[in-house]
Amino acid sequence: MPDEHYADVDLAALYDALNPRDSGGDYEFYLPMIMAAESVLDVGCGTGSLLHWARESGHTGRLVGLDPAEGMLVQARRRSDIEWVHGDLSTASWDAEFDFAVMSGHAFQVLLTDDELRTAFSAIHRALKPGGRFGFETRNPAARGWERWTPANVWEAGDVRSWNDAGPFENGFVSFTTTYESPSWDAPRYSESTLRFLDVPALTAFVEEAGLVVDEQYGYWDRSPVTGSSPEIITLARRPLTGSPATSP
Ligand SMILES: C[S@@+](CC[C@H](N)C(=O)[O-])C[C@H]1O[C@@H](n2cnc3c(N)ncnc32)[C@H](O)[C@@H]1O
Repeated sequence: MPDEHYADVDLAALYDALNPRDSGGDYEFYLPMIMAAESVLDVGCGTGSLLHWARESGHTGRLVGLDPAEGMLVQARRRSDIEWVHGDLSTASWDAEFDFAVMSGHAFQVLLTDDELRTAFSAIHRALKPGGRFGFETRNPAARGWERWTPANVWEAGDVRSWNDAGPFENGFVSFTTTYESPSWDAPRYSESTLRFLDVPALTAFVEEAGLVVDEQYGYWDRSPVTGSSPEIITLARRPLTGSPATSP
């Protein structure tokens, strides 16, 4: 599990404060699609804040959050009018149940191996109704964002300070340590993570192999195009009305 720190109940409780959402960022981008969909699956839902916001915004349909980190789900379960499922897409068995699936907060990048990616896209294809859509984003490797993941860039929430220290980009992967420090703790806490960075051709190949089609792709939340310096690769993929995946894992 590359994100073992999210199992830590104390760190999960700090997640939303340490990761405030930018105005004009991912949540504002995905919310209208969630509100327009009768049934929604949030994969890697974390603390559940995106689905919480959808309910608070008046969504009356089915909302399901899926996450393997129990600590995050403790936060998510503060709302009981949403289905929270402990697990990941490798054990998902939803069949044509959702109009929209989403992975926000770069959760997609925790899928590390080709097999994990194939399993995930295949499960998303199956979970979506024909015509349903999947919105997710990955940081654009061409923008080399990990070069700013250094101890000089500190996040603060209350008396907790946190920073990343990233290693080199190696064959599409970046490993980094996150340090959390607080005067009220005896010792700092550390977590080790690895994220995968796919470029557009590799990403599109996985999407299409699963029988999904790319509807829209953007380089930032303002819907500007993907370029060599755009920070994101934001993809809206669709399960076609007819047809099945090119391969079945
Ligand atoms: C960076 S957080 C993003 C959380 C949330 N989507 C958000 O926008 O804030 C990544 C989340 O992915 C979850 N995760 C880790 N491995 C996963 C997997 N294999 N499948 C789905 N989610 C996973 C983690 O537990 C964590 O909650």
